Formats: sequence, C-alpha cells, structure tokens
Amino acid sequence: MAKVLVVCATRTGETLKIGELIAEGIRLSGHEANVMKVNAIKKETDLQGYDGLVFGSATYHGGMIQGMKTMLFLAEKAGLEGKAGGAFGAFGWSGEAPDRIFDTMKNIFKMNMVGGPLRLKASYLGGGVQMAQDYGREIAEKL
Ligand SMILES: Cc1cc2nc3c(=O)[nH]c(=O)nc-3n(C[C@H](O)[C@H](O)[C@H](O)COP(=O)(O)O)c2cc1C
Repeated sequence: MAKVLVVCATRTGETLKIGELIAEGIRLSGHEANVMKVNAIKKETDLQGYDGLVFGSATYHGGMIQGMKTMLFLAEKAGLEGKAGGAFGAFGWSGEAPDRIFDTMKNIFKMNMVGGPLRLKASYLGGGVQMAQDYGREIAEKL
C-alpha cells in the first residue's frame, strides 16, 4: 500500500473539500492518503516519506495563495523526483493556481505527473465529487 500526501491552500474551505475527495479516490484505490492544510508544512522533511504528493490552491488575484508559494520552495529541497503528482484548486473564473503548481511539480521537481491539473468551481457543482474522486484514482494509477 502506497502513501500519498494531499496539501491544501484554502481561504474559505472549498479547495480543502476537493482535496478530501481526491484523498477518498486514492483510498478507494487501496492506498493511504493524508490531507493537510498548507500551514502545517513547516520544513521539507514534512513532505518526505510519501510515494505521491498532490498540491492544491485556490486562485486569488490571478495566482496561488502565498502559503502554497512558500511551500513550493520547501518542496524544491524535498527530493520529490519521480514521485506521483497532481495539482488542483477551486476557482471562480480564471483558475491560474492549479496550472502554475502543476507546471512547477513537473518542470522543477521532475515528478511523475498525471495528465493535467484539476480545476473545479466547487466540489458540489457539475459532477465535482465524481471528478475529484476520479482524479484521486488517476493519481493512484501512477503509484
Ligand atoms: C478577492 C477575491 C479574488 C479572487 N480572485 C480570483 C481570480 O483571480 N481567479 C479566479 O478564478 N477566482 C478568483 N476568486 C474566486 C475563488 O478562487 C473562489 O471563491 C474559490 O472557490 C475559493 O476557494 P477556497 O474556498 O479554497 O479559498 C477570487 C475570490 C475573491 C474573494
């Protein structure tokens, strides 16, 4: 059984809900998934010991939440090369954050990324629950 960490940067909780659903999808595939808020990640060792990592941030003012930016600099030193990865986030209209996170995980950390980032307006809209769980399953296939 592989172990995945899902880290969420959220202001009003929507990105955390999506992260919990992604974790459910990973668990339904038979693996372990821990969900943490970004502020709980204090040092690069907090990101180590996992087979896969999924990072999420809501989009505010065209970008990711500051806490996620700070965490990505920690992640740079965590030795994540080759690990399974995905990125996600809640958004209102433009949704840049998941794309920026995904590109950083792929190009800088050299992780084994799923097909693309998951952007949802809300977990409860337009099949969001299913899409988030499926995203978890997609990550599980990379483990
Ligand atoms: C002040 C403010 C700025 C926002 N800026 C953006 C934006 O630039 N692009 C976008 O897609 N959504 C934007 N949103 C919408 C949020 O991304 C959306 O409400 C999202 O569900 C919040 O997720 P959270 O609950 O995880 O914080 C903004 C919302 C607020 C309140």
